[in-house]
Amino acid sequence: MHFRSHTCGELRIADTGKKVTLSGWVQRLRDKGSLIWIDLRDRYGITQIILEEGISSPELMQAARSLGREYVIRVEGTVLERSSKNPQLPTGDIEVLPTSIEVLNASITPPFTIEDKSDGGDELRMKYRYLDLRRNPLRQNLELRHRLAFETRRYMDSQGFLEIETPYLIKSTPEGARDFVVPSRMNPGEFYALPQSPQTFKQILMVAGYDRYFQIVRCFRDEDLRADRQPEFTQIDCEMAFVTQEDVLNTFEGLTRHLFRQVKGFDPGPFERMDYATATKLYGSDKPDLRFGMPFVELNHLAKNKGFAVFDQAELVVGINAEGCAEYSRKQLDELTEFVKKPQIGAKGLVYVKYNHDGSLKSSVDKFFNEEQLKSWAETFGAKPGDLMLILSGDTNKVRKQLNELRLEMGNRLGLRNPDHYKTLWVTDFPLLEWDETSGRYFAMHHPFTSPKPEDIHLLDSNPSQVRANAYDLVINGVEIGGGSIRIHDRSLQNKMFALLGFTPEEALSQFGFLLNAFEYGAPPHGGIAFGFDRLSALMAGYDSIRDFIAFPKNNAGRDTMIDAPSPIAQHQLDELFLEIKPFNKD
Ligand code: AMO
Repeated sequence: MHFRSHTCGELRIADTGKKVTLSGWVQRLRDKGSLIWIDLRDRYGITQIILEEGISSPELMQAARSLGREYVIRVEGTVLERSSKNPQLPTGDIEVLPTSIEVLNASITPPFTIEDKSDGGDELRMKYRYLDLRRNPLRQNLELRHRLAFETRRYMDSQGFLEIETPYLIKSTPEGARDFVVPSRMNPGEFYALPQSPQTFKQILMVAGYDRYFQIVRCFRDEDLRADRQPEFTQIDCEMAFVTQEDVLNTFEGLTRHLFRQVKGFDPGPFERMDYATATKLYGSDKPDLRFGMPFVELNHLAKNKGFAVFDQAELVVGINAEGCAEYSRKQLDELTEFVKKPQIGAKGLVYVKYNHDGSLKSSVDKFFNEEQLKSWAETFGAKPGDLMLILSGDTNKVRKQLNELRLEMGNRLGLRNPDHYKTLWVTDFPLLEWDETSGRYFAMHHPFTSPKPEDIHLLDSNPSQVRANAYDLVINGVEIGGGSIRIHDRSLQNKMFALLGFTPEEALSQFGFLLNAFEYGAPPHGGIAFGFDRLSALMAGYDSIRDFIAFPKNNAGRDTMIDAPSPIAQHQLDELFLEIKPFNKD
């Protein structure tokens, strides 16, 4: 049987008069008695089928009336020009007058409407993902993702990179999150780990001489989920030998430009650079959104020791200038105060200074600071009449994080974070190590294979937290799209790094012996980077959540509700693996 001569997105006015066969799903049926319309949908679009009393046979009218939503049908008919055209629809100039309608398969009534704006809630749509995937927005997202993957391969190939697959059943890679583990039946009591990234394998490929490797690869991390995190996600992973940091940045700047041009149809403009120390000082974040300014202004020299205890006790007094917001009402200012006092943000309060249009200044701390003093604040902020200065105080790291949230909130309120605008930024010179109060030890900020900056190596013993790394992130619109580093390729430096991270030589050998051994056989200088592919896809479509760019994602509890995973396994499977489930409390 011949199912279709055209897709449901294909017919145009020039096809008028043609005899066609279409197959697809019934999206909607409107029955006006003497007229029946069917919206027939497939992956390519929607075509209107029309039946009319006096023209269509009574049997055909009857057949049409018996169709339900999401029935799969095959229609033969003639293309007609529509009398009332629909400019919203690519096929909106035509309709098809059927000579036959055949039901290929019936459908039970779907639990939500399968249209651009669905009436289904998140959980319902996840459970019936195959129905949700029929909707245009999701289809477009997956098409965009496909195009990005395709163009990534094209670009990387043109630059001489080889795509090499690395295993999924491996030993733990120390990326900082928890591993998902898989028991080995053939090796009772032993477990594989699913890779958090191909990090160690790609470094070993460099030792093996494959000096330009890339892979579009699934990674697995057992961590708390957020809008931009999934337990399994995809990276564009890359490693290069005989390169400097500049070479890696240039290659990935090239890839990013290529993807923007091919997929979005424009160039993303210049890539800014900022070191980590500057990013945290000016924006309180290692991933600042630079679509707008509003940099932090530090006020210690003007605000401390003037009798206002809150400021006097603070390590840092710091603020932002919101242009044109001097007329904020009491209510709006209260909202901002409530915003910074939310437990997730945790500020104790918010100080504001209004620079009124008439040049006068009014603040929430008038008791402690006179107008002349406030004027000098305004000068430091670079504020003009009409502006509003918002100030927080406290411990340096905490207050910077809080002000970062307030800056982003102001960016949202002022419409400065347009998802159609893109601002790319390389953040460089990350600290090598991070001190963890709870465990009382250093952790690698990126991973243990990241090299310190040569000029900082002398600080490794005396002042480890001051050591900067050859590590970099690509940030677009405040989203961390990717990160990487130049690696340590020298065994003695690698040993030193493990020691700093609290590994005994025996522990280092048992966990990373394979890599340390490989490094004994001529490891070239090397470095690399990985982009979060789901995040890149979402960003290119202006979405915050990556879920709608993954065909079958997990929900916030890490569950796939469609297949109901994870789930218990049979006793015989446990027995085979010599595993026993301890009693536990599900809540
Ligand atoms: P990193 O851990 O920074 O580096 O990961 C690289 C990028 O992967 C994305 N990403 C995620 N996306 C969705 N869900 C998650 N749970 C998730 N976790 C990370 C982010 C991130 O920037 N091996 C190193 C790279 C290297 O050094 O070459 C690595 O994995 O966009």
